[in-house]
Amino acid sequence: MVTDHVGVDHLVVTRHALVRQVLTDPVTYAADNALDAITPMPVAALRVLARRGFRLPPTLANNSAASHPGIRATVADALRPDRVAEQRDWLTAMVRDRVTALTTRLDAGSPVDLYADLTADLPLLVLARLVDLPASAAPAVTAFARAALELFWAPVDADRQLALADTVGRFHAVLRTFAADGPGLAARLRTAGHPPDIVVGALFFLLVAGQETTSQFLTLLLHRLHGEPAVLAGLADGTIRVDAVVEEGLRLDPPIVTWRRVATRDTTIGPVQVPAGASIVLWLAGAGRDGAVVEEPTAFRPGQPGSRRHLAFGAGAHRCLGAQLTRMEAAVVVEQATPLLSGTGVVRAPWCPDNLSFRMPDAFVIRRPGPSTDV
Ligand code: HEM
Repeated sequence: MVTDHVGVDHLVVTRHALVRQVLTDPVTYAADNALDAITPMPVAALRVLARRGFRLPPTLANNSAASHPGIRATVADALRPDRVAEQRDWLTAMVRDRVTALTTRLDAGSPVDLYADLTADLPLLVLARLVDLPASAAPAVTAFARAALELFWAPVDADRQLALADTVGRFHAVLRTFAADGPGLAARLRTAGHPPDIVVGALFFLLVAGQETTSQFLTLLLHRLHGEPAVLAGLADGTIRVDAVVEEGLRLDPPIVTWRRVATRDTTIGPVQVPAGASIVLWLAGAGRDGAVVEEPTAFRPGQPGSRRHLAFGAGAHRCLGAQLTRMEAAVVVEQATPLLSGTGVVRAPWCPDNLSFRMPDAFVIRRPGPSTDV
């Protein structure tokens, strides 16, 4: 299907097999357009970014050049499964403390926002420990990451673009300083000989990819589970596995609904002719609900046949490097935080703005019904 989005034509691929075919053929379909701004940026916004020294060279997700495997290997080493596993106890203790405090508030009849009060900064705090990213100003990082997702992936008007470019540009300048002398991953990328723009680009993408996607997913998953009492009961009595719940959540509620590739030559996808240069939007969320791979596509049935065959993390040469980390964080949150959901009503469901790729839920507020409340 060809569709128009703010004046740009995209070919939308929806079937699981075809989405996978495109993702795993980097020769015919390059990743170069992955971070292109959906709404073309006016000169005024470009000037704001340029004043702050903003550049986004091909680094990770948008890099089909020969430099990609080397950069990817350094980042992958920082996110190795054993390093991720080492963070689990610390994260469990922190989530447990937060859940205890939130339980007290719920018991007192107060509303609780599971996004703002629980999930919004969790991924950043873990990431900061794992790859030594600056976590001191978590709200600033969250604001920057959300601004970046809106600036590059949302339909935005010129005034909004200017404001977003200012937020993104300011934070990019902070990252540039950190990239020049920061420890951890920044130091390892420098030691591996990558130029400053690449170090900044990698940190920029990790903060967006590692922080926002995961906090969005945790919020969406908790909201989904709120409406699945049988699954909550199965988790509580141990008949449903936590990891199966996480996979089914990734399949049904992936925080990244689409991802892009660009055709490098004239080709065909299924019966459709695709000219060289065409922008291809891969509907990852649709692929997870394809009846050809999963038994009951729209039902939340942890462990059902096909549940793990989702493409929430992409596939092939650019497959997500944070998949293990996301799974660990989501498992901890499901284990520790789902008891909060029982016996509560939804005061405010997550609202997701118009965005080509990211869900960006803004809140998820629950409360215990009491004599004076009507939830
Ligand atoms: C629910 C959470 C997440 C989702 C749904 C997600 C999804 C994705 C997707 C769809 C891609 C593009 C894959 C492709 O082009 O084939 C990607 C790439 C990437 N993700 Fe994630 N991601 C998540 C969390 C994370 C986390 C926590 C990190 C790191 C801390 C991370 C790091 C990366 C990196 C570095 C890439 C680029 C890999 C490359 O181009 O070689 N992601 N992710």
